[in-house]
Amino acid sequence: MRVGVIGGGLMGSGIAEVCARSGVDVTVVEVDPGHAERSQQAIAKSLDRGVRAGKLSEEDRAAAWDRLVYTAQLEDVEGSDAAIEAIIEDESAKRDLFKRLDQILPDAQFLASNTSSVPIMKLGAGTSKPDRVLGLHFFNPVPVLPLVEIVHSIMTSDATAVVAREFAEKTLGKECIDSQDRAGFVVNALLIPYLLSAIRMFESGFASKEDIDDGMKLGCAHPMGPLRLSDLIGLDTLLAVSESLYDEFRDPSSVAPALLNRMVEAGLLGRKSGRGFYDYSN
Ligand code: CAA
Ligand code: NAD
Repeated sequence: MRVGVIGGGLMGSGIAEVCARSGVDVTVVEVDPGHAERSQQAIAKSLDRGVRAGKLSEEDRAAAWDRLVYTAQLEDVEGSDAAIEAIIEDESAKRDLFKRLDQILPDAQFLASNTSSVPIMKLGAGTSKPDRVLGLHFFNPVPVLPLVEIVHSIMTSDATAVVAREFAEKTLGKECIDSQDRAGFVVNALLIPYLLSAIRMFESGFASKEDIDDGMKLGCAHPMGPLRLSDLIGLDTLLAVSESLYDEFRDPSSVAPALLNRMVEAGLLGRKSGRGFYDYSN
């Protein structure tokens, strides 16, 4: 099987790695050469980590690496059996991409988006076969977290959902839940207002960032606190998701705090840029 993964950022890299480790040939389309290089470094590091932890043999590591091809041209996914889109969380960029994928891959089994929040119908609407468009929403870090949300638009066919679920569960070894096509799906509709509340709490001086994070780690056994998790997700992505949620539900809990806007404007995007609520320059 060959899959096109569009976008080689945090999520595209993780999805490409998991596919390659599962025996799937992958064409990664990344338009920014610097990001393509960073993606390959991240995957190499993660595969090495797997070898060191005894989860992956040297041979399997080499085979996974050989299954990955990088390109900047979307046309190079031609002939793939399916595509998974993981570009920036920008509705109009994603809509354009799905229109092009529809033409390049007339016979693909499914065209999936890893969007955190954009309704899938908006992406399927510009294609000739919206029945084969759905959401396959992976979680960060993809090699570690088992969940994939299967998001059915009102036009997604049952056959598409079955094939995509089988791919996620049987081929990739993930665990799936189903969601209707509402901004944020199941997990982000719950998670994002919580993260935004933590930012508001910090912004108002109610508590320090360390105490907010320690509170949720030590008091609720979360693996990381909300401000560190926001940095892991990427503050630009968090902001875009909050905007999609607000667009859909008009609920004040999804309004981005001013501090989040200022940080994104300043280029403080979290771990991926080296600084967010915390400093990652080392
Ligand atoms: N790639 C591959 N493996 C990784 C990894 C990565 N980027 N990061 C960590 N790991 C592995 C480690 O190898 C280790 O594996 P073993 O237990 O087999 O040795 C394991 O994960 C734990 O790693 P560490 O001990 O280094 O670090 P940790 O215990 O602090 O865990 C973490 C790090 C996995 C990130 C953990 O803190 C965690 O799960 N945090 C919560 C993440 C979360 O909530 N993600 C969801 C974000 S929301 C989202 O994704 C949806 C959206 O649309 C925005
Ligand atoms: P990111 O900023 O790390 O990566 C996005 C990548 O897409 C960048 O490298 C960019 O150069 C590339 N790109 C932009 N336009 C492109 C195009 N037309 N063709 C090819 N590449 C293009 O973002 P990310 O965190 O990987 O998020 C990707 C998607 O996954 C978003 O929709 C996001 O909402 C979703 N998502 C993110 C997380 C998370 O925790 N960060 C979790 C689940 C889902």
